[in-house]
This record gives sequence, C-alpha cells and structure tokens, in this order.
Amino acid sequence: TQVGLIFGGNSSEYEVSIMSGHNIYKAIDKSKFDVHPIWITNEGYIASEQESLKVLANAEYKIKSPHQVANISNLSELANFPELDVFFPIVHGNLGEDGSLQGLFRVIDKPFVGDDVLAAAVTMDKEFTKILAQRVGVCVAEWISIKRFEYEDEQNTKRNYNQVSAKLGHDLFVKPANQGSSVGVHHVTNKQEFDTALADAFRYDDKVLIEETIHGTEVETAVLGNDHPIVSGVGQIINAEGTFYSYENKYDANSTTSLQIPADLPEETIAEIRANALKVYQVTECSGMARIDSTLRKSDQKVILTEVNSLPGFTNISMYPKLFEVAGIPYTELITKLITEAQK
Ligand code: DAL
Ligand code: MG
Repeated sequence: TQVGLIFGGNSSEYEVSIMSGHNIYKAIDKSKFDVHPIWITNEGYIASEQESLKVLANAEYKIKSPHQVANISNLSELANFPELDVFFPIVHGNLGEDGSLQGLFRVIDKPFVGDDVLAAAVTMDKEFTKILAQRVGVCVAEWISIKRFEYEDEQNTKRNYNQVSAKLGHDLFVKPANQGSSVGVHHVTNKQEFDTALADAFRYDDKVLIEETIHGTEVETAVLGNDHPIVSGVGQIINAEGTFYSYENKYDANSTTSLQIPADLPEETIAEIRANALKVYQVTECSGMARIDSTLRKSDQKVILTEVNSLPGFTNISMYPKLFEVAGIPYTELITKLITEAQK
C-alpha cells in the first residue's frame, strides 16, 4: 500500500505537526506500507518527496513558539499523486483538521486516515462541540461566544468584563473557537487581563469563546475506529498548582507538567470519563480517531468536557498513542489500524 504522509501545514501548530509526522514515519510498518512523506511548508506549498524526507529526518524535538503564518496554499496539488492509495494527514489545526483537507480528499476521491468532513469541522469548533455534547448529557463549562463583528463594536456587552463576569464569574478562560495546542488561550481574573486576552484570541480566529473556569485536572481519553470504536483508558495531566496545560507546558523541554497513564482515579470516575468520551465521539460522528479532553472538577469530581481533537498529536509527549500503548496496542500496530480503517 502506498501511503502519503502529509505533515506541516500553515496553522499555528505547524511545529507540532512536524514532530507528529516524524514519529509516525519512524513507527509505521515499512513491511506493509511504502511511505511517501509530503511536507506542506509554512506557506502552504507542497514540497518534493526528497525535501520532505529531509525535514522529517532533521526534525529535532524542540517545538518553538506557535506562529501564525501566511494564509496561502496550493493544497489542491494533492490531486497530483495518482500513485498513492491512501493519505495519512497529520496536519493539526486550521485547514488540516477542520474538514477543509478532508473535503479536498473527498473531491479528489482518495481514501484518508482520520475523521471525515463533518466530524472534523464540528470538533474543530469548540462551541459546536459543546452544543452537541450537551445533547447527550455530557457537562460542559458555561460559555458565551463573541464574533469579530461584535468585538469590533465597542458598545457590545460581550466584550465588557463586568457584564460577562456577572454571568460567568470573575475567573474565566478566553479561547479562539478553532485552535489547537492551547494557542491563543488565556486564563484571566480581571478586566485588564480579559481585554488583553480577547485581543490576542482574535489574532487567531473570528470567533472567541469566553468560559467559566473549571478548577480541577485535565483527563484525556483516546478513541479509535468507525462503527464499533475502541475507547482507551484514561490519562491525567499533572500540572503545577495554578497553571493550565498551555502550549509551553505541553511542549517546552523545561515544562513541569507530567502525564500519568493510567490515571490514578476511582473506578466510577474512570468509567464516567470513558462513557462520556464514547458519547461525544458518537454524537459528533467521529470515525477513525479522536482524543477527548475533559476536566475533572475538583469540587464535586464531575467530568466536564473541554474539547475533541480529530487529529490528535503524535509527538513524544502526546497522549493519544501512549494511551493505546498502555491499552495493549503498540504504536506501530496503532498506525496500521488507523490506515486500515481509513475513510473511503
Ligand atoms: N492539537 C494537538 C495536536 C493535540 O491535541 O494533541
Ligand atoms: Mg486539549
């Protein structure tokens, strides 16, 4: 089978994608698959196989700060690979994970690994994910969303910290609606922080969510498969007191954050986290794979959904492959399964 492994891209998670691609390339079963790396450069251009191989080989595990890159792209050139049987896109964030690339695969009629158009689009948008989760009885943080045109209206009450606090409390998260790896996400507790956070979040998106803060620890579950998905155990993110799982805490070599797999939690809590993950996977019509992230609220141990990642990270610190490793599906076998279950 000829596999086109696509990585890079022009989202703020470009660096993360290079590391994911590097790891998948290393682990893929070369006796079953001929892998053709396809590097999408920062500017959205498709590089030659030779250049792509070089980028993968030279990828060092040092993820820099996220950056927004030019929004130009000639991804439609992916149509020019008739020899490939399947694409494995590991392009996180905008264009790669939001249904756009998946739509292109549909247009050129090529099988691809991971979620289909609808699930990718819906799960990339944190507001739509919440609305669907609530429908199946999964708890989410209270929120409001604010669009760019509302933000640009200085009289709009949604951009007024006092008015928002009256509804959601003083302790808030501000997040771009469609981003990954916590890029543009801020924890704020006063007007000045709120104003700065909103301005920054709008650098990344035209819609921003303002959420009540849920105090607790982050827990993550990995799901794999189509009609009869497998749900992994639960992993827990152990953060320093008073910090959240920010981009730096995720990928910085000096990060004090650690992962605990499996999470050391009561059996009924684990069962609830896993049951919620499956409900959310199904209601968002995920197939292929997704990692479901939640917060375990400290005050009452309730599981509160944070988000769904339809192309989860495969970096050295990423939870998705680790959770399946612990569940008895080693990295190489996981990749084989993902390719076998590709969308046709
Ligand atoms: N968005 C990053 C890649 C993750 O969720 O792992
Ligand atoms: Mg997350």
